[in-house]
Amino acid sequence: MVATSEYILSEVKNGVLIITINRPDKLNSLNKQTIEELHETLVEAENVNDIRAIILTGAGQKAFVAGADIAEFANYSVEQGKQLSSIGHFKIFNFIENYSKPIIAAVNGFALGGGLELAMACHIRVVSDNAKMGLPEVSLGVIPGYGGTQRLAQLVGKGKAFEMIVTADMINAQDAYKWGLANYVTTQEELLNKCFDITSKIATKSPTAIKTAIKVINAGYNNSVNGFEVEIEEFGKSFGTGDFKEGVGAFMDKRKANFKGE
Ligand code: COA
Repeated sequence: MVATSEYILSEVKNGVLIITINRPDKLNSLNKQTIEELHETLVEAENVNDIRAIILTGAGQKAFVAGADIAEFANYSVEQGKQLSSIGHFKIFNFIENYSKPIIAAVNGFALGGGLELAMACHIRVVSDNAKMGLPEVSLGVIPGYGGTQRLAQLVGKGKAFEMIVTADMINAQDAYKWGLANYVTTQEELLNKCFDITSKIATKSPTAIKTAIKVINAGYNNSVNGFEVEIEEFGKSFGTGDFKEGVGAFMDKRKANFKGE
């Protein structure tokens, strides 16, 4: 099963892996070790067939993730700054966006800087009503470096993205919902239940088709490929899968499909 490490807690419930970033005394900020451990947990979970979806959250009542660990990068050089960003993209942010199973961010408090970027890399965001979200990097003399300049505009549009990034303002959960940054807003108590409502639907569907859907949706945001062409190709390929035979067979037989992810 999926191992637990110093800053990452993981638990499987009903086919869902719940990953908790666990540095509450530092508001779950992302240091190198946390990034490494989160990456390893995700790599391990990808090969566990019984895990159909992931919920990612932060420990404690206060923060999802309050950003990259500022103390750790305080004395970085230009080269180290570039490395920090590119390793983060590779191990976490692009990795999550292109993950084969849906990942839901359960945003239980502050999601700032790298924390909001982490939530935005996830496929779905459910946000508790105490959450505060923002990209405050320009207050520190840097810019968002974990995909925030790109993904925020994809979710809220260019105008709101400019405003949030250049003012460094935090927004509340209701505004996040209105602007398309949050799929749902709940109380903190109900946050995981709302995520489970979503994962319970995912768990009954074809893992193969879901994996392909994630790939094709992302293709639409990749300038080097034509999303429509990728869709045609992948749509065709799905006719050759075991899940397609099972899904269509179950429909014809008027029974529930039992997908094996084949
Ligand atoms: N990196 C490193 N440490 C962080 C951190 C971060 N991004 N965010 C919070 N912490 C630490 C604080 O230094 C503090 O540690 P200490 O108790 O050892 O001093 C602890 O977490 C609690 O934070 P604190 O600032 O005391 O809580 P608060 O309730 O007064 O303020 C925030 C909460 C989120 C407004 C504030 O912590 C903050 O602005 N954090 C930085 C957010 C940010 O700029 N993120 C983008 C980074 S690129």
